[in-house]
Amino acid sequence: EKCGYASFMLKEIAEQPKAVADTLLGRIDGSGTLSLDEVRIPPGVLREVDKVVVVACGTAFHAGLIAKYAIEHWTRIPCEVELASEFRYRDPILDQQTLVVAISQSGETMDTLMALRHAREQGARVLAICNTNGSTIPRESDAVLYTHAGPEVAVASTKAFLTQLVACYLVALYLGQVRGTKYGDEIGDVVRDLSGISGAVERVLGTMDPVRQLARSLAHKNTVLFLGRHVGHPVALEGALKLKELAYMHAEGFAAGELKHGPIALIEEDLPVVVVVPSPRGRSVLHDKIVSNIQEIRARGARTIVIAEEGDEAVVPYADHLVRIPATPTLLQPLVATVPLQVFACELATARGNEVDQPRNLAKSVTVE
Ligand code: F6R
Repeated sequence: EKCGYASFMLKEIAEQPKAVADTLLGRIDGSGTLSLDEVRIPPGVLREVDKVVVVACGTAFHAGLIAKYAIEHWTRIPCEVELASEFRYRDPILDQQTLVVAISQSGETMDTLMALRHAREQGARVLAICNTNGSTIPRESDAVLYTHAGPEVAVASTKAFLTQLVACYLVALYLGQVRGTKYGDEIGDVVRDLSGISGAVERVLGTMDPVRQLARSLAHKNTVLFLGRHVGHPVALEGALKLKELAYMHAEGFAAGELKHGPIALIEEDLPVVVVVPSPRGRSVLHDKIVSNIQEIRARGARTIVIAEEGDEAVVPYADHLVRIPATPTLLQPLVATVPLQVFACELATARGNEVDQPRNLAKSVTVE
């Protein structure tokens, strides 16, 4: 039941700190070591993996795009991410040393299921990341890492997405641990940072009133653009997807570095542009480049909605609206940066009179190809 919330979506957004904590529970021990015995692929096999391919659809695909950064950084194994609906029609190159990661909240998405069947026929091992016990995708996979988001009722995925990210980080760190990569020390640190992330999500949720107010003030707009870089790029794509499906608005996500290659032509007076800013501490080069992007679009009249870390003062002069998120390690930032975008889409859709739990034309699980 909705437990007093106006919608399942609002309830599920609010449940995210718990969903994140539950997905970590029992998988990290006190010394910062991962124990993922439930992933029944022998360490010997994982050491031989020479390529990871992530397949998924929609929001789960965005989790996969973020997983690529984590997997390649912590394991140095090449990782591809592909829309499940495109995968098998391309005759992809797969063999026994390929690890395919299939991400699905429902575990019943036909496109993802067909992609994993194709992968197994070619001899690849398939690890499912799934939120639904005993569903088809985990049953047909070699192994499964369950997300512990609890049942997700609203059609738009929120808490499942955050737990998919956590599961992706765990898989990446576990692969790094098993293979003993040179990022060993960093892995211990990240595991500790992950343990604090549920509290960071909680803090973001406590500061969402101005985001709601902003969303309501933009209800009459036709278009919203989203920009990000590095792991902020998939976050921008996810923000745009949420707005499309809930508010039925034209929303598009771009890699901020691509602006000058075309999208900047879209900028006009008072166009809302949401910018996800990377940490000024981690990849500071990217941070500075994105601050220049914000300046450029603002000079052309955009209304800038800036999502930036606490303490990032460089963005202040160029932000028409500033949304603060807690400082996190770069790769983990999507866990906190996505939350304001979910709240934004939900509130904007409500202001437009839309039914947020049951957006038009959409179904919770898509069991046709
Ligand atoms: C977006 C959304 C969809 C699903 C996609 C995959 O909010 O809910 O894009 O993410 O249909 O569904 P699962 O994860 O069940 O395979």
